[in-house]
Amino acid sequence: MSNYHIKNLEEYFQVYRKSVRDPKTFWDEIGQEHFIWHRKWDRVLSADFKSASVKWYEGAKLNITENCIDRHLRTKGNQTAIIFEPNDPNENAVHISYNELHERVCKFANVLKSQGIQKGDRVCIYLPMIPELAVAILACARIGAIHSVVFAGFSSTALSTRINDSECKIVITADGSYRGAKTIDLKSIVDDALEDCPSVKSVLVVQRINSKISMKVNRDQWLQPLLDIASPDCPPEIMDAEDPLFILYTSGSTGKPKGMVHTTAGYMVYTAFTFKNAFQYRDKDIYWCTADIGWITGHSYIVYGPLANGATTVLFEGVPSYPDFGRFWQIVDKHKVNQFYTAPTAIRALAKQNLAFAEKCDLSSLKVLGSVGEPINEEAWHWYNDNIGRNNSPIIDTWWQTETGGIMISPIPYVTPTKPTYATLPMPGVQPALMDDNGKELVGNQVEGRLCIKFPWPGMARTIWGNHDRYRETYFSAYENMYFTGDGALRDEVGYYRITGRVDDVIIVSGHNLGTAPIEDAVNEHPAVAESAIVGFPHDIKGSALYGFVSLKETGMGRDHENLKKEINQIITEHVGPIAKLDKIQFTSALPKTRSGKIMRRILRKIACNDVANLGDTSTLLNPEVVEEIKSNSL
Ligand code: WTA
Repeated sequence: MSNYHIKNLEEYFQVYRKSVRDPKTFWDEIGQEHFIWHRKWDRVLSADFKSASVKWYEGAKLNITENCIDRHLRTKGNQTAIIFEPNDPNENAVHISYNELHERVCKFANVLKSQGIQKGDRVCIYLPMIPELAVAILACARIGAIHSVVFAGFSSTALSTRINDSECKIVITADGSYRGAKTIDLKSIVDDALEDCPSVKSVLVVQRINSKISMKVNRDQWLQPLLDIASPDCPPEIMDAEDPLFILYTSGSTGKPKGMVHTTAGYMVYTAFTFKNAFQYRDKDIYWCTADIGWITGHSYIVYGPLANGATTVLFEGVPSYPDFGRFWQIVDKHKVNQFYTAPTAIRALAKQNLAFAEKCDLSSLKVLGSVGEPINEEAWHWYNDNIGRNNSPIIDTWWQTETGGIMISPIPYVTPTKPTYATLPMPGVQPALMDDNGKELVGNQVEGRLCIKFPWPGMARTIWGNHDRYRETYFSAYENMYFTGDGALRDEVGYYRITGRVDDVIIVSGHNLGTAPIEDAVNEHPAVAESAIVGFPHDIKGSALYGFVSLKETGMGRDHENLKKEINQIITEHVGPIAKLDKIQFTSALPKTRSGKIMRRILRKIACNDVANLGDTSTLLNPEVVEEIKSNSL
């Protein structure tokens, strides 16, 4: 990748033009550099967006853990690969060198083998942010098992849905997790989930909080005793370029979550390339991404991208508010972090606190500040720039998705002049297009439309687990020969992109993608509820929050509405997770519907956003009178 460690804007445009003119040669050259291949590819790319079939580096053979670990042992064996910063600042941080990581991954991989796990098997990982999470992921990749990490904030129902969808054979979890001042009983969530998961034969349990938990005979085992007797020698399983590496679930606008499948070679090359360039990572830098590994940001930019570059990556167990709101800045100071990557929701929450929290810390090590997950508003951008970057560290507003595998649009720090709220320019190899409502591409600058990508890139997901039709339909059917992102964007007068937000029924709350359909399904489970519609409304910390319009089976007279609201949120917590709780619940006599029976969410969205002056044409509604009622009772 050294050829493409981009140094100035002119070089960026040169590289970019080359990547568009001849993408195959471009990615061929990047693939040649640095990586260990057991066999070179026969074809760089074969792709057909019509059938949603994309293959990169076909014919190549490799193992990603050799590239993320073994490759560095000779030169960086004693360098720290992972710095583990525990939830409690009084517990010592742990530095895991590349040598140690190698040993831990090999041992863990051998434990998986001893449990009968083989290449192609699915392994569910439901762990807090502790080193075992990264090690478990890499152990799967070592033996060619497909990991499916489920964010440990998801409920038991959400967990079992994901386990069943990909028929995982084994679950790796912990006795519990620390989260600020709280502890969370992860194992009992797993126990509940597994009531309903016939494919799971065994459970490995990491001891983290030393709580008393129940262990099911013939199913559950503590991990440590198995590691103690495991061999530290585990030769990597040699994989085909297009063998699946992992499944990661993301919300869709409708129905059940989509198990996005990422494959081995393209994902590796893309995360390695984008990590190096988007963060301008240099040897010996300390890099910290605050995301949870349960999300794509953690997969690509805590684990795979940094380790593929031989970087030192910080893994933080806790939350920004514990023991106080200075924690992030204390960690930057303590470990002398050079690149810091977080989400707008965290920035907004921290910007509300006393500035002294940041001022007390030495933040001079910082060179690059990243933002990801949702649009960053102008106020948060300036606060981040002025008070954390101290006008000295460029902000990279990185736009990408679970589906894209890696960063797609982002400034290159010290190369691309930044502009608040703009993700600016595409990474080399990425060809964005803006489309109008009639399916025509908007050419030129100063246009706004739906964001698509017109050419494949190596990091893109290849399918949805078990449902290729849904993959094709969701991403490749809206516009011919284009990948459709589900986001809206504009291009300004110099060609910079600004992402304006989702154009579908996905709502991003505190950086988490939430589909409205599964939350509505949960609400509708309440015996008193007839139906519900959930929309987003602006929230000054979460970015968006959820507003539920709920109609009851009986008019609800005599019911305690406050209690009902609590019960509804409780059901959501059980079915989806606490992150999906509704901030506002309005009971209505009915929901506005079209004559064909579809709920008119457009109107509800406007009411939730207090934008009632212009509701558009309501005359086509089946029940226009209900709009007045909802408007006058809105919260
Ligand atoms: C949104 C997270 C504006 C967008 C990596 C996208 C952003 C969705 C940005 C994907 C950004 C992500 N500016 N919006 N810099 N980054 N998004 O799959 O709507 O969790 O489609 O991947 O987050 O979320 P996901």
